[in-house]
Amino acid sequence: MSASMVWRTGLRARAAPTSRLSSRPTSLLPKRFPAAVRYASESAPVQQAVSETVKQTSKEAPKKVARGSRKLLYGTSLATILFVGYIYGTDTRASVHRYLVVPLIRQLYPDAEDAHHIGVDILKVLYQYGLHPRERGNPDKDGALATEVFGYTLANPIGISAGLDKHADIPDALLDLGPAVVEVGGTTPLPQDGNPKPRVFRIPSQHGMINRYGLNSKGADHMAAVLNQRVRDFAYAAGFGEHELAEQRVLDGEANVPPGSLVPGKLLAVQVAKNKLTPDGDIDAITRDYVYCVERVARYADIVVVNVSSPNTPGLRDLQAAGPLTKILTGVVSAAKNVERKTKPYVMVKVSPDEDSDEQMTGICEAVWKSGVDGVIVGNTTNRRPGALPEGYDLTEKEQQTMREIGGYSGPQLFGRLVSLVGRYRKMLDQGPPSGTGPDGEDTPMSQTGQPRKVLFASGGITTGQQARQVLDAGASVAMMYTGIVYGGVGTVTRVKQELRDEVAKK
Ligand SMILES: Cc1cc2nc3c(=O)[nH]c(=O)nc-3n(C[C@H](O)[C@H](O)[C@H](O)COP(=O)(O)O)c2cc1C
Repeated sequence: MSASMVWRTGLRARAAPTSRLSSRPTSLLPKRFPAAVRYASESAPVQQAVSETVKQTSKEAPKKVARGSRKLLYGTSLATILFVGYIYGTDTRASVHRYLVVPLIRQLYPDAEDAHHIGVDILKVLYQYGLHPRERGNPDKDGALATEVFGYTLANPIGISAGLDKHADIPDALLDLGPAVVEVGGTTPLPQDGNPKPRVFRIPSQHGMINRYGLNSKGADHMAAVLNQRVRDFAYAAGFGEHELAEQRVLDGEANVPPGSLVPGKLLAVQVAKNKLTPDGDIDAITRDYVYCVERVARYADIVVVNVSSPNTPGLRDLQAAGPLTKILTGVVSAAKNVERKTKPYVMVKVSPDEDSDEQMTGICEAVWKSGVDGVIVGNTTNRRPGALPEGYDLTEKEQQTMREIGGYSGPQLFGRLVSLVGRYRKMLDQGPPSGTGPDGEDTPMSQTGQPRKVLFASGGITTGQQARQVLDAGASVAMMYTGIVYGGVGTVTRVKQELRDEVAKK
């Protein structure tokens, strides 16, 4: 029915009762119409007024319909714009994330830590309402980037490094950005504030950062509660119910998803560290710190990562010496084996790029073999400052000042060292342990006992698919990113994976 027909029919319907009523005997009319009866049968002027009204109405009706149509048009247009905006804005491939959102956040939040917090908060809220950016179309489905890690077939070899989601606020939002590994934390046994602010700085011309957060953490109990609730929500949504047994069934693999990530083909790593106030020289107390964290959070992790490489906790890096490291890692491995879950979490140790002498690296490898840790994340931020960049990329005065800030440097300038370190660790670990350094004092080199190869993840300056390819070729299983995402926005993982796919296709 056309719009004009609609209003015409309406007019007819309104006009009809008057004439019908006028021809009926008043006594037969129902009581509810007495006034209408009087108007119709007795009053000519009233009839005139009625016909005037009808005329008036017939003039206004088309206008009303036009107004209605306009409203409908505006409404539909608005709905279409919102829908297209939603589809575009929530797609990690949208260039708006890199070229509008990142500069806007930097402009609005000159302090890099404020920008970090607001970024996490926004993602958290968007995720709650299903409005978060995500990878659409499952680009990993062709299997071109699939890789084996710890017996899992991962969808791709890209990860997000620790520190971006320090309190496990947004693991699912980060997983939806496309990586196969997300590392949350580091968490410490007791809550701690970290260093005084300001403590995070940008070096925009290098796409680099310096931070001295100092492992600010809400504590392992808090993180355990957050991760526990996440599993419970998942169990409920998957139809396992709300009780504790439901949680256990999910953790035991009955939902056919890894117990940490809760997403097929993806893994969740949870990083643990010591409290700043735990005395540097007391290795037993330090080991207890790490073990406490493992006992609280490892249940919800596919991988537990031991952080001994943050440059911002005094004395932490000294724990990378073979003796203390072996003790700490042995404690962690044993605690991870006791986790109440069918499959136990794997354990990795995250090491610094600055402990790079043969002697230091050999000591770390020795601790890895002796403790039975499953792998190494190479590396972390660096205490060193990168050399001058090629001409045309001079640091501004402010950046030169920033470069003098105490803290760990991160960004593309780390990459060269990272590739070399991954290659060297790969070689050292593939040679197996020196005799007598296997777990339980075994004498036979691991490489000859059929022990699984130690897994390497790479972290430091990766921003492109080509770089990811280089670290994978050097012997890493996963290429992790942090600062690249800060400067590239939420679409970075998708972009790097596409570049990596192009690299693989070239082969
Ligand atoms: C602001 C900031 C906070 C970080 N926090 C942690 C942390 O809590 N634990 C950790 O092991 N690494 C932390 N890192 C180091 C990163 O995980 C990563 O190893 C390092 O930045 C090098 O990689 P990138 O060049 O891709 O950023 C942090 C890095 C930055 C920039």
